[in-house]
Amino acid sequence: MENINRRKFIKTTALSGAAVATSSILNLESLASAKEETAAKPIAISSGNGAKALEKAMEMIKEGKDAIDAVIAGVNIVEDDPNDMSVGYGGLPNEEGVVELDAAVMHGPSYRAGSVAGIRNIKNPSKVARVVMERTDHVLLVGEGALKFARAHGFAEENLLTDQAREVWLKWKENLSKEDDWLPPHTIEDKEIGQIFEKYLRHYGTIHMSALDMNGNLSCVTTTSGLSFKIPGRIGDSPIIGAGLYCDNEVGSAGSTGRGEANLLNCSSVMIVEWMRQGKSPEEACLLACKRVNERCREKRLQDDQGKFKHGVSFYAINKKGEHGGANMRSGGSYLIHDGTAVKRIESAYLFK
Ligand code: GLY
Repeated sequence: MENINRRKFIKTTALSGAAVATSSILNLESLASAKEETAAKPIAISSGNGAKALEKAMEMIKEGKDAIDAVIAGVNIVEDDPNDMSVGYGGLPNEEGVVELDAAVMHGPSYRAGSVAGIRNIKNPSKVARVVMERTDHVLLVGEGALKFARAHGFAEENLLTDQAREVWLKWKENLSKEDDWLPPHTIEDKEIGQIFEKYLRHYGTIHMSALDMNGNLSCVTTTSGLSFKIPGRIGDSPIIGAGLYCDNEVGSAGSTGRGEANLLNCSSVMIVEWMRQGKSPEEACLLACKRVNERCREKRLQDDQGKFKHGVSFYAINKKGEHGGANMRSGGSYLIHDGTAVKRIESAYLFK
């Protein structure tokens, strides 16, 4: 996989309107070459855990398949992977140790979408989301209803909790509180029992993929096991059309990973598409979404000592011309694209260093 390093420093004080993507040390040469490489269709973009998914999706796109077929087949690889503990089979469970998955798909040409939320025992929620889109009069099915619907369509049920994920959940449970009876292995000398250790902190893993196919059509998918150790029934942004993903076949496609609550409050994906409609590049639009999340946050518990939003959110976008962009709240993030030649890792723009 090729790494494209676009060294970039976005002055947070200049982050308004058209100034959003200007940079004092923007590496224009590498930026230009990244854009050149992706000028020709087709293209697919994903979060950083999507290398194999992108390979699969691009293979199908080159065969002339519709982008919706390609993005779903791509993310199915990650849903099936027990070692990706943020998506599908092997995803980290809720606080009771039960895996609950969210997924949504959106098809540009038909302007239809489908999603499932809080579904248990089905390892490919993105496939069920597609059936919701194609064979119901609804857009979103949740929980038991989503599971019954999947059963009716012949989806196999299985225990999604792998031993690896159960061990991580158990360590979280054992370190959750000093005031309950769940303790990790310890000796009589240990003082820190009951602390939540850094490596067991909760996280929001997800995969998003958007693609532009050989016919110039856009589609996207987002699929996740959601926030690890969540309250049962908690739904994140991933299955919510407009929050965790959105595509408009005339404009572009976008999606998000990271703290779903922030994206639910800001409808970030539909905003990114609308900003692209107004002429912003995919990267500018993604940065505006980061800026919106930060500015709208009023809760101190979600801010660092400087009053900046302290959780991670990441955005990914492509437009109808095949241009791509991504942005994170903090520096150091990246996203993947497949431009028809190879998977490439691109450094994301960011709001804060
Ligand atoms: N973005 C994934 C989630 O919050 O569930």
